[in-house]
Amino acid sequence: MLPFLSIVREDFAATNQLILDQLHSDVGLVENIGHHLIDAGGKRLRPLLVLLSARLLEYPGQRHLDLAAIIEFIHTATLLHDDVVDMSELRRGRPTANANWGNAPSVLVGDFLYSRAFQMMVAIGDMGIMSILSNTTNVISEGEVQQLVNIKDPSVSEANYFEVIYKKTAALFEAACTTAAVLAQVPEAQKEAIGLYGKHLGLAFQLVDDTLDYEGDTATLGKNVGDDLAEGKPTLPLIYAMANGSAEQRELIAGAIRSGSTDHLSEIVEVVKATGGLAYTHECANQSAKSALAQLDNLPQNGYTQALADLANFAVDRDR
Ligand code: IPE
Ligand code: IPE
Ligand code: MG
Ligand code: MG
Ligand code: MG
Repeated sequence: MLPFLSIVREDFAATNQLILDQLHSDVGLVENIGHHLIDAGGKRLRPLLVLLSARLLEYPGQRHLDLAAIIEFIHTATLLHDDVVDMSELRRGRPTANANWGNAPSVLVGDFLYSRAFQMMVAIGDMGIMSILSNTTNVISEGEVQQLVNIKDPSVSEANYFEVIYKKTAALFEAACTTAAVLAQVPEAQKEAIGLYGKHLGLAFQLVDDTLDYEGDTATLGKNVGDDLAEGKPTLPLIYAMANGSAEQRELIAGAIRSGSTDHLSEIVEVVKATGGLAYTHECANQSAKSALAQLDNLPQNGYTQALADLANFAVDRDR
């Protein structure tokens, strides 16, 4: 069990039950695809963020359980869409939904999960939460489209890369924490601090994800390494390697991005290592995690604060 999970064990079990209950549909294919992905587990970091944040901020009610399930549904919807866009074949150790059922059902069940999340939000009935989550889903879509525009373009800047990872990933981590603070009705300064914790954590998380696509192990990760290069995705390890490598190394990487080809994957892994591209990306992730941890000083100090610190450390020191 992840160390930061035990402190919210009961909330976590209740959230998982809620997720299963809310997956219901009269259409068999919706449930089949939903269960295929959800039953495979995943780390459930985003719902854990909601639960830990709500408890840290001493929220006395039960709606944080619904909120945690909502955030996981939004995440799961993005995964269904993401695997279509990225043409990925492995997720959570299983064939992706698009590999099993094709693109059309994956996109449509992704839509089902998004809209189920919004139905559940209406049941919570808090306009502040509705506002944050509608903006967040909008920003995630924008980030995914911006990334699509960047595909096969080796000239994408580091600033552009950071904008994309904020939008596509960190915004949801931030929203998980901020909406928990809205539920807990804490002062603005605490809401801001927990939001910034989530944002920096999310950036660290995606930075590490982008290193694992080069140096991870497929069996441990439960997804195929090399998918980013196969798509011609200019992520930070490559951007740094192109800026700091020799002309020959730069051309090797730029060519692979332009063609979206993994033909030279092992050579490219060597180059991102030799030029410090992976080390630099890890360093950026460590800095982000440090910024996340610093925000915890501005929040109440209890067992949940420690769990959030453990979660931030896990985000940068993980292999899955
Ligand atoms: C995958 O997220 C998508 C990214 C933002 C990198 P996770 O690595 O949290 O996926 P699961 O939920 O644990 O499978
Ligand atoms: C995930 O980015 C972002 C979203 C799901 C919105 P990736 O495409 O890197 O995620 P993985 O590596 O497929 O999980
Ligand atoms: Mg992907
Ligand atoms: Mg993607
Ligand atoms: Mg990835």
